[in-house]
Amino acid sequence: MPDKFRRRLLSLLLSFYNSQHNGSSYLEEDFFEDSGYQRVYRKIYFNIFRNLGFIERILTEYTKNLKDKKAKSLLVLGTSQIFFMDDIPDYACINETVKLAPVYLKKFINATLRNIARNKEVLIQSYSIKENFPDWFVQKWANLFSNDCELDNFLNFFNKSPEFHSINMDSLTPEPYIKNASRSYPMDLASFYIPMLSGNIRASSIMDACAAPGGKTLVLSQLHPNAKITALDKDSKRSDILAHNVKKYNADNVRIINEDFLNFNLKNQEKFDLILLDAPCTGLGTMKRHPEIRWLRTREDIKKMASYQNKFLEKASQLVTHGGYILYSVCSLEAEEGIDVINNFIDSNPNFKIFTPNFHYIPSDFFWGKFYYTLPHKTLTDGFFAALLKNTA
Ligand SMILES: C[S@@+](CC[C@H](N)C(=O)[O-])C[C@H]1O[C@@H](n2cnc3c(N)ncnc32)[C@H](O)[C@@H]1O
Repeated sequence: MPDKFRRRLLSLLLSFYNSQHNGSSYLEEDFFEDSGYQRVYRKIYFNIFRNLGFIERILTEYTKNLKDKKAKSLLVLGTSQIFFMDDIPDYACINETVKLAPVYLKKFINATLRNIARNKEVLIQSYSIKENFPDWFVQKWANLFSNDCELDNFLNFFNKSPEFHSINMDSLTPEPYIKNASRSYPMDLASFYIPMLSGNIRASSIMDACAAPGGKTLVLSQLHPNAKITALDKDSKRSDILAHNVKKYNADNVRIINEDFLNFNLKNQEKFDLILLDAPCTGLGTMKRHPEIRWLRTREDIKKMASYQNKFLEKASQLVTHGGYILYSVCSLEAEEGIDVINNFIDSNPNFKIFTPNFHYIPSDFFWGKFYYTLPHKTLTDGFFAALLKNTA
């Protein structure tokens, strides 16, 4: 019998090669929850997208003109297991893949995978970390690092499994990750520190402009217990999750609005003393937990996001009080989505100044001058950018 979970992986790969993803089709947390071997299948999935450049190069060497997408997907699935699933013997990696193949492909898949498995010790010697990221991404970062070693180090850390933390929402301290712990919320450390950057700001009204699923809202709620917090998100399903989290963690000073921030109207309400703008972005900083994202995004996407992010900042500037703050953040390390957005905004809004937050509780590795900037090989976290802006008008 073909393994139904490997079949699921195969159909994910097929939609990837047929470009049937919506640009953000991440593996859901519960995707293999119905399997007793969830960890194994998740590991296969992560290995595929972390090593796809290497796998595809080997396949180009061992096949001629591989146009059939089903054949390609099967070979990627089999090859990734042969190289990166040490606990599964090669014959099992091959047999399980051949079982999934339609009759017309069985012989070809079997012969190709056997051939690759025979030579795997030699082939792995040619592995290069750079081939496992799109060329445009490697070139971009090669220009930023002074030496090749640091570039490889950076890419290697982006290819590692994420470190999981939980945030204790009573004490606002990170703890080792415990699944389903009642007062703990699972969060990457770099994400947790972003709302913490507002720790010294006195704010009686706060807007979390892109709030769902709500990790940062919960931190804001605990950090500013006397403030009224408006948590807004455009996506209704995600807003439901936000509402669930706000209720579960008794964040009583939070009200939720399911609306487009760009259309948000103050009506009779006062402006906000602090706006957290955790803006939509390419998500390229989350490659540790979403390794496929590097293959889904393009340079064009970065530009599009940057122009969207400019609009968000402009909108936030109309909603913040004189003397108030905007905390801008993205889970991307691309300059276009971070420092360039901030510089463009300040150029056209000179009354806003970059404000250095008091960050004594956050390690200095998490900063780059006035900016919060988490390079994964330095902080062992996701890659985030954040800047705190003060309206000095
Ligand atoms: C990076 S995620 C926010 C993560 C969240 N701050 C947290 O810590 O859990 C960006 C969010 O922006 C929302 N979003 C995108 N466009 C929006 C818009 N025009 N108005 C409001 N929310 C929007 C998305 O639905 C998504 O939930």
